[in-house]
Amino acid sequence: MAVIPVILAAASLVLAQVTSSTAPTTPPSNQTGRLPALGWNTWNAYQCNINEAKVLAAANQFISLGLKDAGYQYINIDDCWSVKTRDSSGRIVPDPTKFPNGINGVATQVHNLGLKMGIYSDAGTATCAGFPASLGTELIDAQTFASWGIDYLKYDNCNIPGNWTDAASPPGGDWYNSNSGIRYRQMTAALATVSRPIQLDICIWGTAQVWTWGARVGHSWRMSGDASPTWSFIMSVMNINVAHLDTIDFFGHNDMDMMEIGNGNLTIQEERTHFAAWAFFKSPILLGTDLGQLSTDEIAIVTNKELLAFHQDANIGTPAKPFTAFSGAPTTSPPEFYSGLSSKGTHVFIINTGSSTATKKFTFSNVPGLGTSGNFKVHDMWTGQDLSGTFTASSSFSISVAAHDTVAYLITKV
Ligand code: GAL
Repeated sequence: MAVIPVILAAASLVLAQVTSSTAPTTPPSNQTGRLPALGWNTWNAYQCNINEAKVLAAANQFISLGLKDAGYQYINIDDCWSVKTRDSSGRIVPDPTKFPNGINGVATQVHNLGLKMGIYSDAGTATCAGFPASLGTELIDAQTFASWGIDYLKYDNCNIPGNWTDAASPPGGDWYNSNSGIRYRQMTAALATVSRPIQLDICIWGTAQVWTWGARVGHSWRMSGDASPTWSFIMSVMNINVAHLDTIDFFGHNDMDMMEIGNGNLTIQEERTHFAAWAFFKSPILLGTDLGQLSTDEIAIVTNKELLAFHQDANIGTPAKPFTAFSGAPTTSPPEFYSGLSSKGTHVFIINTGSSTATKKFTFSNVPGLGTSGNFKVHDMWTGQDLSGTFTASSSFSISVAAHDTVAYLITKV
């Protein structure tokens, strides 16, 4: 009867208050999560209406649509995958109707395609949709996930018991020591005890100043509430991230939430901006639609080799940042001009945040890193073609950009 002690131990963990002096300080795994994740997640496409067939369809489409070849790896199951009651050993039980072969059955097939498997839980008493969550049962849940072959855990923030809410200011002024920080640290420590590396996605909606401690606890952290397939969401999450670009580097990524390409009524220009911005801010890119419905143009966006190479650069972990395009340039919110380095050189990204076509211009010498002398050539990352001609440092570059579109350039010295 080893069953009862396990359940009692689990229950008492929920009740016992861990403090900042007793909470684990285990760092996240360095065997995974160096680069921002590329994958797919069930939530934006299906919410709770998920099953094995939909998950395996996405995995197979990763192969047939060229997404795996482009670097996409993770097939992630979000909320609503289990039944409401744990088994007699205290383990979470996959819903047998949705997942008749269990999560391990799906994981085996996903792994057989050369892909990785993600699952979802929550650092509270129930998930957002009311299913079993992991606060106080971190260890048994981490062990269960590992035994199924899980490679990635999205860890949500619903249903926090009253004794776990955050004080106005955390011990020592470090939000790592806030109750939120501690709830997530308990899962980091549990994941460190299992035999496979599991990437930890902190889904905390930009609360508890997560960008200040996220990299000490997990591999990425949500910066906002839930995505919607709207231009206003894309603009608002960019604005939030612009204020916190200095914490992004290898092993630590601001998560701008899952992609909405293919959903709602985004224009193709808005979808290009959505993808480019997530790529140049090095957010995880988790597609969130029925992949079989994507148009050829949409597939071309999400498999754009040059933007993905910027996002997945093995040598440079920092994102693009805003710059002043020319002296006296108007400011917008979010900014329209960004520059960043990749292994290939200096990149410039220009977003037309306005609702009609507009001419955008910048001076080469204003682009950080290009310097004030020499000649430059401009390469269009969307078309893969060089633009004709060369440009001097003092020259001004002009381009007409459609409403809500983004142009993406690589600029090199000639
Ligand atoms: C939200 C989360 C979403 C999704 C949902 C599931 O808290 O931000 O991305 O996971 O819960 O219920």
